[in-house]
Amino acid sequence: MFNPVFKRSVILFIALVSFIVCTAQIKTIDQRVDSVLKLMTLEEKAGQMNQYNGPWAATGPLTNDNNLLSQIKDGKVGSMLNVTGVARTKELQQLAMQSRLKIPLLFGQDVIHGYRTIFPIPLGEAASWDIPAMEQSARIAATEAAAVGVHWTFAPMVDIARDPRWGRVMEGAGEDPYLGSLIATARVKGFQGKGFGNTDGLMACAKHFAAYGAAVGGRDYNSVDMSLRQLHEVYLPPFKAAAEAGAATFMNSFNDLNGIPATGNKYLQRDILKGEWKFKGFVVSDWGSVGEMINHGFSKDNYEAAMQAVNAGSDMDMESRSYIKHLAALVKEGKVKMNVIDDAVRRILKKKFEMGLFDDPYKYSNEEREKAQWNNAEHIKVARDISRKSIVLLKNEKQLLPLSKQTKKIALIGPFAKAKADNNGFWSYDWPDDTARISSLWEGVQRKLSAASEIVYAKGCNINDSSTAGFTEAVAVAKEADIVIISVGEARDMSGEAKSRSNIHLPGVQEKLIKAVMNAGKPVVVLISAGRPLIFNWTADNAPAILYTWWLGTEAGNAIADVLFGDYNPSGKLPMTFPRTEGQIPIYYNHYNTGRPAKNDSDLHYVSAFTDLPNSPKFPFGYGLSYTKFDYSNIRLSKAQFKPGEKIEAMVTVHNNGNYDGEEVVQLYIRDITGSVVRPVKELKGFQKITLKKGETKEVRFTISVNDLRFYNDKLQYIYEPGQFKLFIGGSSNDVKEVNFQLTK
Ligand code: NOJ
Repeated sequence: MFNPVFKRSVILFIALVSFIVCTAQIKTIDQRVDSVLKLMTLEEKAGQMNQYNGPWAATGPLTNDNNLLSQIKDGKVGSMLNVTGVARTKELQQLAMQSRLKIPLLFGQDVIHGYRTIFPIPLGEAASWDIPAMEQSARIAATEAAAVGVHWTFAPMVDIARDPRWGRVMEGAGEDPYLGSLIATARVKGFQGKGFGNTDGLMACAKHFAAYGAAVGGRDYNSVDMSLRQLHEVYLPPFKAAAEAGAATFMNSFNDLNGIPATGNKYLQRDILKGEWKFKGFVVSDWGSVGEMINHGFSKDNYEAAMQAVNAGSDMDMESRSYIKHLAALVKEGKVKMNVIDDAVRRILKKKFEMGLFDDPYKYSNEEREKAQWNNAEHIKVARDISRKSIVLLKNEKQLLPLSKQTKKIALIGPFAKAKADNNGFWSYDWPDDTARISSLWEGVQRKLSAASEIVYAKGCNINDSSTAGFTEAVAVAKEADIVIISVGEARDMSGEAKSRSNIHLPGVQEKLIKAVMNAGKPVVVLISAGRPLIFNWTADNAPAILYTWWLGTEAGNAIADVLFGDYNPSGKLPMTFPRTEGQIPIYYNHYNTGRPAKNDSDLHYVSAFTDLPNSPKFPFGYGLSYTKFDYSNIRLSKAQFKPGEKIEAMVTVHNNGNYDGEEVVQLYIRDITGSVVRPVKELKGFQKITLKKGETKEVRFTISVNDLRFYNDKLQYIYEPGQFKLFIGGSSNDVKEVNFQLTK
């Protein structure tokens, strides 16, 4: 319609105007930040760097303080955590509006896997390998929390974890840096939505910086000692991804890293995060972690701790009260430079401006929006969908699953069969009305069956005690039924912060219950709800069908029932390796080969192996079955050699060779055969979640460039090296087809 030159000029003009408007906007915020900063006393600056827990809830050790609220009026508090609901956020914001400069408070909260609508725990969601779905669940969590006045979530947790004894594995994306980075990006985008200042988004916080997941022995808060190469290669990538995705904030961690507590660690916070990665947001400490540097033996007292933390780049002090007590004196005594304080305050004020709080401090606290979040049908629908995508089918002998909806009598047995709150898992808040609307397994199964079917129930035992008193009833109930479903697992507080366990077998007498019930001779389906990979070898070897259901949240029962009765064909794949015993831990698929690798599980002759158990895990990373069967064939490359600057394509044919339509996560791994530093036996470098109808065949293609071959050398340079590589494609890290290629100079 228009002539192309005119059209191009219009586009250019619009681009120029938007650029000018954007630049003006950035300038305005920076100028506004500076104009506020100029008015501030040193004490008020320290106030902005101080965060207190709200007086109503706590997620860490409490400090008794009755003058907390009056400190807000005095401009001594910049942020609060655990302040929940429109009424409370407004109440405290009103106090801040009585302070001399009326700088609004930022409200932060652990919105980890949902707020009112609870989604699967992050590790469970990671098993879906469905990146857009994870972004959407974070989006909904943010919408719900932002409506009640929360501005900032302490999520995503992007710590890589190779040790299931560590209770916080439930909160992350598992063991793999590549998958972890994609998920970190999705969650940051989901939480932050269309950008700061929209009332349906939160500021994200990538935590815990850094290497918290590598605590020695899996014991929470423990020390971490690792090579910088491993830090960069395995533990930092998801953080870098979060920074690149625009995460507003970072939280440092409780652990020391190679002898320096993360909170006082300049290398992490100044050199890497704010230096190399050019991170422009602010860093908050973890709860009390500034003061805890005294216990670490790194700081003499709180005065020194405040000095070390702020100089190292920790901008805000969560609940240590070290900054508010000592920063002003530290500056006056020349121990901390004024520009260090100004930089921290600028970063914090900038976020408050970007969130629009200087224009309207009550912007996010809205009764109407708050009401709309309760029992929001759309959110619940999304929760059900991602919950069923998170379930992993570990075993399905003789196609026992899916069950027929015409089954006459089903026995539901086990402490999770009627459980409600335990489905939510750790890091979910107890809202008075919300527990009732969690769908239990019992309810989910009932909704699938017609009046012609009957469900019988016996609890059998509790989650974690030694009583077998309920076994007789459970066995009797099993005997009457055509199919038995046993639902067991961990109680909601058995994995999470400060929930490390040295024994990660199915707790209590639950596995004994499974044995007793299986003796009744009926077909048995076992469901395991937990926050971490558990050990259940007898069940794994003897039960015909097993579904790993994590803690799925509000829609747990409905989602499990969808899978049990075939309304959804399971597609989840494990984001963490499941060990055979605790003695194998740490266990992860991307390990080095060693100089004496075992050829197989029975090879014990002076090789790197245990003499009393195989090297292989019980269930490997990337593993998960479907009701249908996917055959992989014809793996091939567009060429067998390529040069830097070029690309090659890897292709595989996947055929749905079973009786159901289904989804499959096609995984691509690479091994660098020889390097200037040793390389893992396999590293995930790509995956695609595809849908194949029954009988359908698809060709799946991946493009490889030198960027997929990079690694950190001994000088910490991120390089690639010419040489031989193996490329693997398959449906699990241990079930792949392979082909070789070469990178030439
Ligand atoms: C301590 C936890 O380590 C951290 O993840 C959490 O955000 C804070 N407490 C606040 O609850």
